[in-house]
Parts: sequence; structure tokens; C-alpha cells
Amino acid sequence: MNHLIVSAHPSDNSFSNYLASVLTEKYKSIGWEVNLRDLYKTGFNPVLSPADLGMLKSGNTPDDIAIEQKYIRDADLISVIYPLWWAGFPAILKGYIDRVLSNGFAFNYGAGGASGLLTDKKVVIHTTMGNTVEEYEEKGLIQAFRQSQGDEIFKFCGMQILGHYFYPQITLADEAQREHFMQMALSRYSELAVESSVK
Ligand SMILES: Cc1cc2nc3c(=O)[nH]c(=O)nc-3n(C[C@H](O)[C@H](O)[C@H](O)COP(=O)(O)O)c2cc1C
Repeated sequence: MNHLIVSAHPSDNSFSNYLASVLTEKYKSIGWEVNLRDLYKTGFNPVLSPADLGMLKSGNTPDDIAIEQKYIRDADLISVIYPLWWAGFPAILKGYIDRVLSNGFAFNYGAGGASGLLTDKKVVIHTTMGNTVEEYEEKGLIQAFRQSQGDEIFKFCGMQILGHYFYPQITLADEAQREHFMQMALSRYSELAVESSVK
């Protein structure tokens, strides 16, 4: 089984990258192939350029996009881990989505509308945040984030979202709270029976 982990936080000691490394070890230890794509470490270029668009439209895929698409193609399970920035994705992750989930690879348009092409992929999404969940829930934004950062991207591409989890006030968390969040994150994979559901 193959687990792709996409992490988009610039800081090594962030909860995001801590979670990415713990998941990497956990899945390696049970014999899965794990590919951790830390977008800052790999220096991913997030700008969908005129040249990229021209190539993609003519059926050619720029090399750096083709590399990331192969990781997705090979994956059974994809974990996406990022901090909420200005109520959205960090730019590097937005750009990864813009460039890698391209028309013809991740979805296509037909007479009946769009159809997702990545129907054999399962996704787990982790969003860390500075605010509380309550602040956002009052404004109806948690549901909006689930739609705009989950459904409208990964489900749109045909993937099954197994869970989308929010980690509130992670910036204030002490060591014990971080461990608590980590255990919650790991138990979610067990609760979701991720290992059996992707087989
Ligand atoms: C540029 C920027 C924008 C941010 N915008 C938000 C935001 O809109 N909502 C929020 O709850 N936290 C926001 N934060 C706080 C981050 O979400 C928080 O620092 C991050 O989740 C910490 O996660 P980590 O432990 O993985 O480092 C922002 C932080 C930065 C640097």
C-alpha cells in the first residue's frame, strides 16, 4: 500500500511537520510505502505560469508537475497537512493544487459537466489553526472550509475524503497538548479503519 503525505508548513517544529513525520514512521513501520512531499523542502514552484498552461493545454506536462502527479497516481491514501492561512491554504499548497491537479489528470469536462478521474484515492485532510473552532463555527466557516478546501478540490477530483480534521489554537499548545492532538490524529486513522478501507 502506498501513502502519500503532502505537507505545507515552512517550519520544522510546526505541528504540521511533526504530524507528517509521525505518520511517515507509523505507516513505514506497518510495511507501507510512504512518500512525504514537504512542499517547502522540495522547493515546489507554486505558480501556474503561461508556459505551464500552454504545455498542459497541448497535452504536455511540465517535468516538476509530472513528478508530483506520479506520486498521486501511485498513492492509495493521501494525507494533506497544512496550517490555515487567511482562512485558506498557504500559497505553496494552493499552487500545488493549481498545477498538479490539472485538467486531464485529476478531472475532465464532458457534456454532462466535470468528472473526477482520481476515483481510487482516499484522502485525509488536517488543518491546523490559530483560532478556536467555535469562532469559525459561529460564522459557519468550518463547514465552508470543509467544502472549499475539501469537497471542491479532492472530491471534485473523484477522491473519497475519509476525514477532514481541524486543530484549534495549535500555536498556544504546550508539549502535553501537542501530544494530545497527535494521539487524536493517529486514533482517527485507526477509527477510520484506513488500513483496511484502502485494500
Ligand atoms: C500568514 C498567516 C496567516 C494565518 N491565518 C490564519 C487564519 O486565517 N486563521 C487561523 O485560525 N490561523 C491563522 N494563522 C495561524 C496559523 O494557522 C497557525 O500558526 C498554524 O496553524 C500553526 O500550525 P503549526 O503548529 O503546524 O505550526 C495564520 C498564520 C500565518 C503565518
